[in-house]
Amino acid sequence: MGVFRIAVFASGRGSNFQALVDAQSNGLIDGEISLLVCDKPQAAVVERARKAGVDCFLFQPKDYASREDYEREIAAELSKRGIDLIVLAGYMRLLTSVLVEPYSGRMINIHPSLLPSFSGKDAIKQALDYGVKMTGITVHFVDGGMDTGPVIAQRAVEILEGDDEDSLSQRIHAMEQQLYPEVVTWFTKGMVELNGRNVAIAAPAKR
Ligand code: GRF
Repeated sequence: MGVFRIAVFASGRGSNFQALVDAQSNGLIDGEISLLVCDKPQAAVVERARKAGVDCFLFQPKDYASREDYEREIAAELSKRGIDLIVLAGYMRLLTSVLVEPYSGRMINIHPSLLPSFSGKDAIKQALDYGVKMTGITVHFVDGGMDTGPVIAQRAVEILEGDDEDSLSQRIHAMEQQLYPEVVTWFTKGMVELNGRNVAIAAPAKR
């Protein structure tokens, strides 16, 4: 088989994008981050992509009549490059069936809570406000809902006395940057098996 090609969608800081780029450079990810899709041309992640020599598809949603319109352009960019896996990393837009359907089972997201708790926006603050003692991170497949797709991997993060959003976010982000590249390697090695809502991680397949 040829190169395993990855597209990352991000809207902001890009710490997960950077962790994926670094994992590719140090040989952990046996694949190529071929494209960054970003809806905020000024976002820090765009500069990270430029430095890493990753192609960017930048757009402004307000230039389009509908979400479907810009997603059709994104879909064309993805198929032009033969993208195998879409990795959402802080992409702050809901997706429509234009992208969700063709990439079903090939699109993943990372969320800063133990889903199904605290889905949606501000998950770290939601967990602090609720007063849980344990939160964490979830990598899941993307389906048509908000953070509802089958769970691929989770890691717990303890909430410590005196934690605020900043201190907890730091530990959560550090854990995300470890886990996300690892999960992507499972895909490049053909190890992820989806059965209904259940995901199994198998031994590496021969490619
Ligand atoms: C991460 O916390 C991720 O869980 C959430 O968005 C944030 C993105 O951070 N989906 P970054 O842009 O990768 O630094």
